[in-house]
Amino acid sequence: MQDDLQRVLFDEPTISHRLDQIAAQITADYRDRELTVIAVLNGSLIFMADLLRRIPLPLKLDCLSVASYHGGTKAVGEVVFRQVALPDVQDRDVLLLDDILDSGRTLDAIRRKLEEAEPLSVRVCVLLEKKILRAAPVKADYIGFEIGNEFVVGYGLDYMEHYRNLPCIGVLRTELIAQG
Ligand code: IMP
Ligand code: MG
Repeated sequence: MQDDLQRVLFDEPTISHRLDQIAAQITADYRDRELTVIAVLNGSLIFMADLLRRIPLPLKLDCLSVASYHGGTKAVGEVVFRQVALPDVQDRDVLLLDDILDSGRTLDAIRRKLEEAEPLSVRVCVLLEKKILRAAPVKADYIGFEIGNEFVVGYGLDYMEHYRNLPCIGVLRTELIAQG
């Protein structure tokens, strides 16, 4: 698996150290509030598990599943919600967790949907943020690492559902990415 990477961007110790920092920041920011974490499956699973265990606050956890990608490396416009009922977020302080902020369409759609239920607040936390012009106006409040416009895998991020279990984050060799 590791051989399929062109290069490693963030190794395990680097990720771990950064999670300590973000978790400390979130813990301080939500000290007097009751946090409701909503994780976007499947990409944020590993990030979520490692991050939440570093946050010693009472919190609730829900997961959401949306489809916006269809297995390739280019996002398409539509975001489809996979479950019928959304988590109840009325009067709650919500922290949305996702693996990566790319076009912004996914998190923008989720945020809008959640806001219909009148939460007290909604903040966004992503492991990675691509430095690109976004199609949808989303700003993350907590960001693990900024990256360029490259396709990355590992630590929850996939290419056609593979590589999620790589412990590091790296750039996939371009010849492995199907054209089109
Ligand atoms: P969006 O374009 O911001 O809506 O991102 C949607 C989803 O695309 C993310 O949650 C990821 O699952 C996926 N994605 C975007 N960029 C990458 C990447 O570089 N590697 C793997 N998945 C990605
Ligand atoms: Mg994905």
